[in-house]
Amino acid sequence: FSAFLTDNFGRRHSYLRISLTEKCNLRCQYCMPEEGVKLTPRSQLLSTSEVLTVAQLFVREGVEKIRLTGGEPLIRPDVLDIITELRKLEGLKTIAVTTNGMNLARLLPKLKEAGLDLLNISLDTLVPAKFEFIVRRKGFHKVMEGIDKAIEMGYNPVKVNCVVMRGLNEDELLDFVALTEKKPLEVRFIEYMPFDGNKWNFKKMVSYQEMLDRIRQQWPSLEQLPLGKTDTAKTFKVPGFQGQVGFITSMSDQFCGSCNRLRITADGNLKVCLFGNTEVSLRDVLRSGASDQELLDIIGAAVGRKKKQHAGMFSISQMKNRPMILIGG
Ligand code: GTP
Ligand code: 5AD
Ligand code: SF4
Repeated sequence: FSAFLTDNFGRRHSYLRISLTEKCNLRCQYCMPEEGVKLTPRSQLLSTSEVLTVAQLFVREGVEKIRLTGGEPLIRPDVLDIITELRKLEGLKTIAVTTNGMNLARLLPKLKEAGLDLLNISLDTLVPAKFEFIVRRKGFHKVMEGIDKAIEMGYNPVKVNCVVMRGLNEDELLDFVALTEKKPLEVRFIEYMPFDGNKWNFKKMVSYQEMLDRIRQQWPSLEQLPLGKTDTAKTFKVPGFQGQVGFITSMSDQFCGSCNRLRITADGNLKVCLFGNTEVSLRDVLRSGASDQELLDIIGAAVGRKKKQHAGMFSISQMKNRPMILIGG
């Protein structure tokens, strides 16, 4: 495995998350401030061919999975071309997208044809009026339609990301678990994480332990499934249900020791940790006409600066980072 993608703690980074856009057709409270964020001028975002050049380089060095994020990746006009081209990269096993699901029903046949393997869809409530409050836009039924169509088209597992916030949707935990009885979904409850502009505070966060306790009261037979080596989610299943549930415990029980992820922001920065603010511009290096070797040296140096783990929820809630919408999750 490439030395450039291996850090000082022996972690091999075989999973690259590429943000395709800073824009979004929703305004989720936990992701961005109401007034929006300052957008990077288009000329400074990675072009189609720059995205592919970067992807190709990382795949050559050992990346096996690429997830496209945003903003909302499916609003980028060239997303299908990008997936089609990624599909041709030898060594790349998995192409995934994390989407808000708004355009999904319409795009699914084309996404599948282009070669998309895996889909994670955000949905934080099953109550339409609450949806509008959390994401500050309409669209609940479109997202549900997208989820159902993804299942119909054979995507498995379809993962549903639910950011749990106290006083907002914590009362829907059991309803989300119940959804997995008949649908082969993996519903993932995510601990609310702090990012610039999202007004995080400890009291709004519902911890893994609390969620698990509440679900166990209803379904004492909930059983834990084996943990994958680099999984973000601890997964469980109610015996007899078609789907399963997961918990992403970035705050109360971080999983940095098994991290295998690197990120490229839409403006072309390599970000070696979701909660790290050290970034390096690959865009500028690319545009200076640098060789692959020069790029790799810069990537390797950045990976070498990756910390063993994030600094803990209170420290990261104080530090300067990007708003989530400019990172991509
Ligand atoms: P899989 O590829 O299916 O494992 O998806 P994922 O969970 O990595 O990605 P997704 O985009 O669906 O993100 C779900 C949640 O996990 C979001 O809240 C992300 O911010 C969080 N997440 C993703 N990667 C990391 C990571 O490396 N560290 C931490 N702490 N959280 C992450
Ligand atoms: N805390 C936890 N998860 C978040 N996401 C976005 N913002 C936050 C946050 N503050 C999740 C969304 C999306 C994924 C990419 O990140 O649910 O599915
Ligand atoms: Fe957009 Fe997704 Fe953020 Fe919501 S969570 S604002 S859909 S990027």
